[in-house]
Amino acid sequence: MKNTSPKWLEDALFYEIYPQSFQDTNDDGIGDFKGIIKRLDYIKELGANAIWMNPCFDSPFGDAGYDVSDYYKVAPRYGTNDDLVELFNEAHKRGIHVLLDLVPGHTSTEHPWFKESLKPTHNEYSDRYIWTDNVWTEPKGYGSLRGISDRDGSCIVNFFSHQPALNYGFYKPSESWQQPMDAEGPMKNRKEIKNILKFWLSKGCDGFRVDMAGSLVKDDEEGKGTIMLWQDIREYLDENFPEAVLISEWGEPDKSIKAGFHMDFLLHFGPSHYNDLFRCEKPFFGGNGDVSKFVEKYISLYESANKEGLICIPSGNHDMDRLSRSIPNDLLEISYAFLLSMPGVPFIYYGDEIGMRYVEGLISKEGGYSRTGSRSPMQWDDTKNAGFSGACEDALYIPMDNSSDRPTAMSQMNDEASIRSKIKNLIAIRNNNKALKNSSDIKFVYAQENEYPLAYLRFCDEEKILVVLNPSSNECSFPCEYVAKDIVYSFGQSATLDGSVCTIAPKSAAFIKLEK
Ligand code: NOJ
Repeated sequence: MKNTSPKWLEDALFYEIYPQSFQDTNDDGIGDFKGIIKRLDYIKELGANAIWMNPCFDSPFGDAGYDVSDYYKVAPRYGTNDDLVELFNEAHKRGIHVLLDLVPGHTSTEHPWFKESLKPTHNEYSDRYIWTDNVWTEPKGYGSLRGISDRDGSCIVNFFSHQPALNYGFYKPSESWQQPMDAEGPMKNRKEIKNILKFWLSKGCDGFRVDMAGSLVKDDEEGKGTIMLWQDIREYLDENFPEAVLISEWGEPDKSIKAGFHMDFLLHFGPSHYNDLFRCEKPFFGGNGDVSKFVEKYISLYESANKEGLICIPSGNHDMDRLSRSIPNDLLEISYAFLLSMPGVPFIYYGDEIGMRYVEGLISKEGGYSRTGSRSPMQWDDTKNAGFSGACEDALYIPMDNSSDRPTAMSQMNDEASIRSKIKNLIAIRNNNKALKNSSDIKFVYAQENEYPLAYLRFCDEEKILVVLNPSSNECSFPCEYVAKDIVYSFGQSATLDGSVCTIAPKSAAFIKLEK
């Protein structure tokens, strides 16, 4: 990692909180900041020391808050700006850092800036969004809003139709209405990003996860313009808030790390083959899949990141199916043995630590659509609404998993065999072994097409650990000359090393410390 990277990232482990669904304290059926404060000790007890919270700013909630209408004010349903500051302070008291979610690419159509830009007469906000020069011209390659006001033009949208794209310019403008990156509107938007960062960082936030970070500059296929833009922002942060962390939703670390992000997520989209692991018809960690393409891609991304930034493979997030939808219970622990032994900062999506299920058949809530099933209320205990809220059941933000055997945090905390206890143990092992730390190195040892196991070496100057993961139902082995010193973790039956071959039993995993 670059020397300028905040030191705290080296030992960080994140817990993602979808604030709507985590803990309600005022019985309105929606989670709030006070609820998160109430559960900070739970997060710490698991072993996480950082939080990423999905957007909590004022919004009409057409996309769960990814449609911001005021970047400087939190949504009243979560509390006040002061409550958020209290959350920062309470988290810090416990050694927990807090990242907010920055949505720089688009606003809500309800944002006052957009309302001004809708006007037919030129004003300060006319060029803050990307408009063609007449309503009959649609922007090629982008969705657009047309005929919604007297302004004669079509406006580019970034995601849903109610999310107009903020204007950061075109990499190489080719139409008269396309502005260069250094035009006034784009530069004002860039300045606004810095203002937003400054506003929240000054209040105690520790950094940002950045939504659709690679999408800002338009017609910028190789990302060169967007990379330059973020480099400028990173420079601003390095000068003014050197401890602030920026993590991108980009999915292409070869670009995002160059852009100055400290870490990038590999996700369910983009070229990373992330889905091959957990979320496809035959996921590798489901016991009958292929990991080779993922590994090939990972190696090239890892090399291109050149240790200047990290790559994160999250357990899931608010946009993906719950891990437990495609990975059977008896293989969940091996999945976590992988997630918690890879380089980069691990991210655990709330509820994943107890194997919370994707709730099938829900009606979409706030733009969730198929994602709604992964956003159901956290299951804390056996009290009303699983301890999430004192509201009536039908007032809950999203219906709970109502199955009689739904997992709960409290029962799992009291059960050494629970997935939560296993994850807690894996986190402790990661923390206690330098070779498993976030920026220690990795070398793949065995990752053959359509074969098991997956084996890789994690190492640093002081030690080497061989990770062997076999979620398949067959015993398997591979040539391996390493000599074992110590087993630091095993699941199922451990692996054996005899100096020429490594053998591992079905549905088993092991971390083996090696002789130097
Ligand atoms: C990615 C976010 O994770 C997702 O939830 C959102 O809908 C889109 N970006 C649009 O902001």
